[in-house]
Amino acid sequence: MSIERFPGFIDVHVHLREPGATHKEDFYTGSRAAIAGGFTFMVDMPNNPTPTITKERLEEKVDLSKKALCDIGFHFGTNGHNTEEFAKIWDSPSVFGLKLYCNHTTGEMLIEDKDLLDKVFSAWNSLKPILVHAEGAQLEMALAFALKYQRRLHVCHISQAIEVELVRKAKASGQPVTAGVCPHHLYMTGDAREKLKGYAMMKPPLGTQEDMDALWVGINDGTIDIVETDHAPHTREEKEKEQPAFGVPGLETAVGLLFKGVKDGRIQKEQVTKLLYSMPKQIFNIPDQGDTYIELDPDKEYVVTPPYETKCGWSPFEGMTLYGKPETVVIRGKKIVENGKIVTN
Ligand code: DOR
Ligand code: ZN
Repeated sequence: MSIERFPGFIDVHVHLREPGATHKEDFYTGSRAAIAGGFTFMVDMPNNPTPTITKERLEEKVDLSKKALCDIGFHFGTNGHNTEEFAKIWDSPSVFGLKLYCNHTTGEMLIEDKDLLDKVFSAWNSLKPILVHAEGAQLEMALAFALKYQRRLHVCHISQAIEVELVRKAKASGQPVTAGVCPHHLYMTGDAREKLKGYAMMKPPLGTQEDMDALWVGINDGTIDIVETDHAPHTREEKEKEQPAFGVPGLETAVGLLFKGVKDGRIQKEQVTKLLYSMPKQIFNIPDQGDTYIELDPDKEYVVTPPYETKCGWSPFEGMTLYGKPETVVIRGKKIVENGKIVTN
């Protein structure tokens, strides 16, 4: 048992809810959840109630995010009717990619029309990746459009065995595609809905044991490049409704779940840094954060218990034994977390 130093981890897929849904989370509380969980850089998604699909909305977010305790970047959004905005924002240092929704989820950015999709892939003439939420057959379509226009494609939150296979084949053919997986899909199957009800509902939904096994294989054969949390906080009230909101918080538990994966012999310790730092940094060209690191003991167990830093105040992993809670977080030489406690605001 000993403390080890790791780079500040990077989460390229979070929903921090500001502006428009700050009863769930905001940039300050979301950043507290991030640093408590060992992340020093995260990239926020555009599906706010008023989506981030214009330069003005993007600038507003950049401004609002200044209260955060860690660094935050943004993915721009599209509904297919804002392609004229792309060239205004794609060189912005705050933008890391374009997010495209091919399936229904929280927000109003679903694009189902093939002509609109074609227009989006054609118009995004940037080396920054197009990130897709595309499940099953939708993924096949997204891969085909990316190939047609030779765009870099990042497939978000792969959750089904068939999707792992689609990405594996695309990679084998030389297509520039990368893929991410969420901690909840690595540790829960649809069975969890019996006990957790709405708290186990998210998009893409939890899969079967076969899906889960395929995700671990995908991590180990290089089909899956990164772990992204899809941190998607909703209030308890919203999760206990008859039609629960989709999504679960994940920033505070992702690192502990991956070190549990190491403990359980599913991955090697070196892979944690690859999945949460080197690969996300490379794929999204995340800038260096000088003198930034975290310290934790990967063998030290802890149980997921409240209180949480995320404003939503719950975790689908409550009660689970995880490993390696961050004890120190330093960003650009400044101590942000000391002895496991946030020491700045
Ligand atoms: O479960 C999800 N929640 N999936 C998404 O794609 C969006 C997210 C959210 O914003 O709540
Ligand atoms: Zn998401």
